[in-house]
Amino acid sequence: MASITYEGLEVLYTREQIAERVVEIGAQITRDLNGEKLVMVGVLKGAALFLSDLARAVHVDTTFDFVAVSSYGKGQRSSGAVKLIKDLDEPIEGKNVLVVEDILDTGLTLSYLRKILLQQRPKSLRIATLLDKPSRRIEKIEADYVGFSIPNLFVIGYGMDYAERYRNLPDICLMSPDHPE
Ligand code: IMP
Ligand code: MG
Repeated sequence: MASITYEGLEVLYTREQIAERVVEIGAQITRDLNGEKLVMVGVLKGAALFLSDLARAVHVDTTFDFVAVSSYGKGQRSSGAVKLIKDLDEPIEGKNVLVVEDILDTGLTLSYLRKILLQQRPKSLRIATLLDKPSRRIEKIEADYVGFSIPNLFVIGYGMDYAERYRNLPDICLMSPDHPE
């Protein structure tokens, strides 16, 4: 039976399930780096919580940077145009970069970010996403590390928002269309 939070929201992944998966992904990233250094690039704001947990599960010499993007478009429908509103603080040329994202949805955001980050000639560029919604893809892009692959559901919590709310929920919950705001 699905568990329900005090907010009356249905839980899709509990904090324990998330923590377990983050440790597995961290171990995989550690192995793949073979002792080399890493720059973790978080996509604000949704990936902030995932990055902070993943960083502690990756056992290599790591620095952090953050980018922020905005997509043009009205309401839920995106025009497909993505704009960088906060750039990297440090150059990534010659470095092993891991882009850390909350959700890979249409792929527009990560395709755009990958393109502009590759222009800086990193040594490697990989993508870690907590959630993947493959059925929603418009741009052809896959993540190297995926926490959970989910159907077309709107989720909130563990960094993810609905109109900027619910980012602090410890579990990943379902936003039902009839949930009272
Ligand atoms: P896309 O891959 O460019 O379509 O955009 C992915 C971004 O859309 C994510 O980084 C989220 O900020 C947002 N997003 C997509 N699906 C959801 C969801 O179910 N809940 C909250 N935010 C979402
Ligand atoms: Mg996001």
